[in-house]
Amino acid sequence: MPSTPDSVLDVVPVMPVVVVDDLADAVPLARALVAGGLPAIELTLRTSVALDAIAAISDEVPEILVGAGTILTPGQAKEAHDAGAGFLVSPGATPALLEGMAATGLPFLPGTSTVSEALAVLELGFTEMKFFPAEASGGTAWLSSLASPVPAARFCPTGGITAATAASYLALPNVGCVGGSWLTPADVVRRGDWAEVERRAAAAAALGSPVSNG
Ligand code: 3PG
Repeated sequence: MPSTPDSVLDVVPVMPVVVVDDLADAVPLARALVAGGLPAIELTLRTSVALDAIAAISDEVPEILVGAGTILTPGQAKEAHDAGAGFLVSPGATPALLEGMAATGLPFLPGTSTVSEALAVLELGFTEMKFFPAEASGGTAWLSSLASPVPAARFCPTGGITAATAASYLALPNVGCVGGSWLTPADVVRRGDWAEVERRAAAAAALGSPVSNG
């Protein structure tokens, strides 16, 4: 795994949000993302092979930062840690989930979609979070509205973002990176079209360093 970055938000401009149904797809998919210039992946715990996929990528593709997404319970946070995940992402942020993710010692992005949820995360001393579901919750307008009154919060907006809209999010001062599944659509993964994943990753990587946007 790459050396731990100062922030999970500063590794790639676009965080690939990935669902793996077939364990055999995990390593070639991760390699295609790296080849395209995106050395990070959020592998969602939405399938029975997800933890094994995280372990396989962690073992066999050391140049990628592999995280676990769709963490819903403290138990899943621990399982993801034990499988080799380098960071955790959740769609929401209950007190028990925040405690469970923090207990792993891993960087994590708790999901928020209201000002009070963002403030609750800040109260615990964490400044980085996911904004989910981004498009359904107000999109760039919501994030712009928060930048001045709550400048400490930095976000990875995810949910409904596309190749066409990613740049408008990345231009905001409180956005480090955006997340999305458009790099690895189910049909592309199913047919093992790793060249297409690499092409999509390269286009996303070209959106620029999140550091230069931050
Ligand atoms: C997530 O878990 O962050 C979302 O499912 C990704 O959303 P998208 O599929 O709309 O990109």
